[in-house]
Amino acid sequence: MSKIGAIGRSGILRKSNESMRLIVTTFVGVVFGFLLGVSFPASFSRLNITSHLMEDTNSSISPEQLLHHAWSSMTGQNESSLTQVQTPNDTSKIWVSSNPRGAERLPPGIVVAESDFYSRRLWGKPSEDLTMKPKYLVTFTVGLGQKSNIDAAVKKFSGNFTIMLFHYDGRTSEWDDLEWSKQAIHVSVLKQTKWWYAKRFLHPNVVAAYDYIFIWDEDLGVEHFDAEEYLKLVRKHGLEISQPGLDPDRGTTWQMTKRRGDLEVHKDTEEKPGWCGDPHLPPCAAFVEIMAPVFSRNAWRCVWHMIQNDLVHGWGLDFALRKCVETAHEKIGVVDAQWIVHQTVPSLGNQGVAQNGKQPWEGVRERCRQEWSIFQDRFAAADKAYYKKMGIDPPNSTFI
Ligand SMILES: *[C@@H]1O[C@H](CO)[C@@H](O)[C@H](O)[C@H]1NC(C)=O
Ligand SMILES: *[C@@H]1O[C@H](CO)[C@@H](O)[C@H](O)[C@H]1NC(C)=O
Ligand SMILES: *[C@@H]1O[C@H](CO)[C@@H](O)[C@H](O)[C@H]1NC(C)=O
Ligand SMILES: *[C@@H]1O[C@H](CO)[C@@H](O)[C@H](O)[C@H]1NC(C)=O
Ligand SMILES: *[C@@H]1O[C@H](CO)[C@@H](O)[C@H](O)[C@H]1NC(C)=O
Repeated sequence: MSKIGAIGRSGILRKSNESMRLIVTTFVGVVFGFLLGVSFPASFSRLNITSHLMEDTNSSISPEQLLHHAWSSMTGQNESSLTQVQTPNDTSKIWVSSNPRGAERLPPGIVVAESDFYSRRLWGKPSEDLTMKPKYLVTFTVGLGQKSNIDAAVKKFSGNFTIMLFHYDGRTSEWDDLEWSKQAIHVSVLKQTKWWYAKRFLHPNVVAAYDYIFIWDEDLGVEHFDAEEYLKLVRKHGLEISQPGLDPDRGTTWQMTKRRGDLEVHKDTEEKPGWCGDPHLPPCAAFVEIMAPVFSRNAWRCVWHMIQNDLVHGWGLDFALRKCVETAHEKIGVVDAQWIVHQTVPSLGNQGVAQNGKQPWEGVRERCRQEWSIFQDRFAAADKAYYKKMGIDPPNSTFI
C-alpha cells in the first residue's frame, strides 16, 4: 500500500529555531515579493497594454473592450456610461467577475480554486513529487480505544484512498506504530464530532481531487467489506450517495439500511405502516444513515453546504440528503453485496459532561434530539422563505 498522505503532525516544525528560520525566510520572501510587486507591474503592464493597443487597433474586440465588459458586469454600469473610464490606468486594472468571489483582481491563469491532500516533498522538482494521486478519500473520527478496529477497517481500503483521521481524544502519537498512519492525514481537536470536522476540514474545494468521499464512524465492522468492490457497485448502479448495508442481526433502527442477502444494491424498502407517507421519500427511499455515508464529489459539494456550523451531531441530515440529488430515490441507495456491522460501542457520546444527575451520554443524546428539531425547523423556514420569494406554492413534499 503506497498511500500519499499529509505531513500532519510529523516533525517538520519540531525544533523551534527551525520554525523560526522558516518564518523569517517566509517573511523575507514576502517582503521581497511585495517590493517586486510594487515596483514592477505598473510599468510592466502599461508596456503590455500599449503593445496590445498597437496590435489590436483594427480587431473587432479589443482587450480594453473585454476588460470594460468585465468591469461593467461588476459595477452594473451599462456600456454607454463606460466610455468615460477608458483611460490606460483603468484598463491596467484586472477585474474578472467569473473568478471565484474575492479573487476578481487576479488573472484567471494564476487562480487555483481547488486543492487535495497529496503530500509533497520539500526538495526536487514539484512536477515529480507525486508518484500517484489517490482518487478516493476516507475519513474516520476516532479515539484511541478503537485503534485496532480502525486498523482493520483501513486495510479494507486500497492504495487508491487517502486516509484521514479526526482525533476527538487528542491522542495522535499513539497511532505512529501503524505503517499506514505515517502517510495518513491526522487532525486533532478535542471532543468534536464527525460533522464538526467535516464542515471545517472537508470543504468541497479542498477535497475536489477525490471522486468519492467516505465519512465514517469508528465502530464499524468491515469483515464483509471491500472498498474497491463497493465503488464498482456504486458506479454500476449510479449512486451519488450510498452506504454499505448493515448486518440486520445487530440492532438497527431503519429498514432501509438493513442489508438484503439477495441483492447487490437496494434503493427502497417498506417500513412500519404509516412511517412512509411517500414511497419515494425517507425513510422508505432516498435515504441512508449518517454513520457510514459515501458521497460522490458532486453530492458532497451540495451536502457540505447543508451542514450547519452549530449542529454538530448531524441528526436530521440523513432525512435531508435527498435535497442534494435530483431523482434522489434512484441515486441514493444501500450496497448489500459489500456490508458492514454496526458495533455500537460507546465512544464520543461518553465524552459529554454529567449534569443534573444525568449520565454524560444522556446529555449528548438530548442535544442530538434538540439539534434534529432545530435543523428541521431551519430547513422548513428556508424552504418556505424561498417559495415565498419566488411567489409559488411549496410542493407538499418539502417537509424533511
Ligand atoms: C488589421 O488589418 C489588416 C488589414 O486588414 C490586417 O492585415 C491585419 O492582420 C489586422 N490586424 C489585426 C491585429 O487584426
Ligand atoms: C445607461 O447609462 C446612461 C447614463 O448613465 C443612462 O442614461 C441610460 O438610461 C442607461 N441605459 C440603460 C439601458 O440602463
Ligand atoms: C490615471 O490617469 C490620470 C490622467 O489620465 C492621472 O491623473 C492619474 O493619476 C492616473 N491614476 C493612476 C492611479 O495612475
Ligand atoms: C486503483 O485504481 C485503478 C484505476 O481505477 C485500478 O486499476 C486499480 O486496480 C486500483 N487499485 C486497487 C488496489 O484496486
Ligand atoms: C397537497 O396536500 C393537500 C392537503 O394535504 C392536498 O389537498 C393536495 O392534493 C396535495 N397536493 C399534491 C400535489 O399532492
